[in-house]
Amino acid sequence: MNLKNDLLLRAARGEQVERTPVWAMRQAGRILPEYRKVREQAGSFIKLATTPEMAAEVTIQPVDILGVDAAIIFSDILVIPEGMGLPYEMVEKRGPVFPRTVQTMSDLETLRVADPEADLSYVTDALKIVKRELNGRVPLIGFAGAPFTIFCYMTEGKGSKTFSVAKKLLYTDPEFSHALLQKITDSTIAYLKAQIRAGVDLVQVFDSWAGILSPAQYRVFSLPYIKQICDAINEVPVTVFAKGAYFARQEIGQLACSVVGLDWNMDIAETRQMIPDKTLQGNLDPCALYGSFDQIRAEVKRMVGEFGTQKYIANLGHGVYPDTPPDNVRCFIDAVKEFSQV
Ligand code: CP3
Repeated sequence: MNLKNDLLLRAARGEQVERTPVWAMRQAGRILPEYRKVREQAGSFIKLATTPEMAAEVTIQPVDILGVDAAIIFSDILVIPEGMGLPYEMVEKRGPVFPRTVQTMSDLETLRVADPEADLSYVTDALKIVKRELNGRVPLIGFAGAPFTIFCYMTEGKGSKTFSVAKKLLYTDPEFSHALLQKITDSTIAYLKAQIRAGVDLVQVFDSWAGILSPAQYRVFSLPYIKQICDAINEVPVTVFAKGAYFARQEIGQLACSVVGLDWNMDIAETRQMIPDKTLQGNLDPCALYGSFDQIRAEVKRMVGEFGTQKYIANLGHGVYPDTPPDNVRCFIDAVKEFSQV
């Protein structure tokens, strides 16, 4: 199927664009009243994420309502542990919780490499519906968590500021840590390939907790597994977004990925110098969207000026915060479109 708007894909491949494509991390599900309505009907996050028709509906909402240049499938990075045999719960106002965690080799033996056709068909079914209903309007982004970030949740069992339970295991049981990371990686590659077969045009790997590791640990416990994913996925462009890993930009830039995501702590000019050949994505502070329209427009103008209009996908430096007024997100999207015309 030919895309009517393929700006995101052209930018990802480093091709010339008439203007910079724009979307917002966590655009599906956090901010729109239209989302909350469907979420209420579903009754729970997990019910919504596992009901393909509903997941498809909230995936498309930001395309219609915000005018973004891509859809990202409504799902969660935690479907991988679920598919491996470690179910999660989503607790209101607290976030994800794993009733059971993985801490030892014998815990690990109870888990399988996820078989996406059997264990995660609700995601691929949703993707097929989205693809059909988008009818080529914009590209569809698939995603997964980076193995280290998934490791954090599977061992810690819940969100944490420090993930000290997870990090402790890197020191006390590196053999187990690597075995779990490898099983997650194998599951993730199979899962991303299933998403690609179902029609996604690009995939993004979220290493949301990269920033809690030292550079040396990042090199041992995260990068090699992201590298395996990048090496295995050559059907579509891959974006690597490692939040907080400013220290690893050079090495991330050398992976077999097309796009590198930046958070707002990363200096734009410095990153361009470090990663001259790849497309960059990011990196407005999500808090900038609490400002007035004039402030948002000024921030976007500065950002586009620093990145330049080419080899660039405009985005936030992390997910949009839930209490951001949708009109401010729209102001951000429109400002990128205005200030990046070639
Ligand atoms: O981008 C999108 O809008 C697509 C949907 C999406 C969700 N989660 C839906 C969701 C995506 C891309 C994710 C990724 C995700 N999930 C990450 C990586 C990106 C990042 O923000 O760093 C992480 C770390 C998670 C784990 C997770 N899921 C947490 C910590 C939470 C609770 C807090 C939160 O982010 O809202 C979730 C729940 C979750 N995932 C919700 C949604 C819409 C809210 C649950 C609800 O509606 O009850």
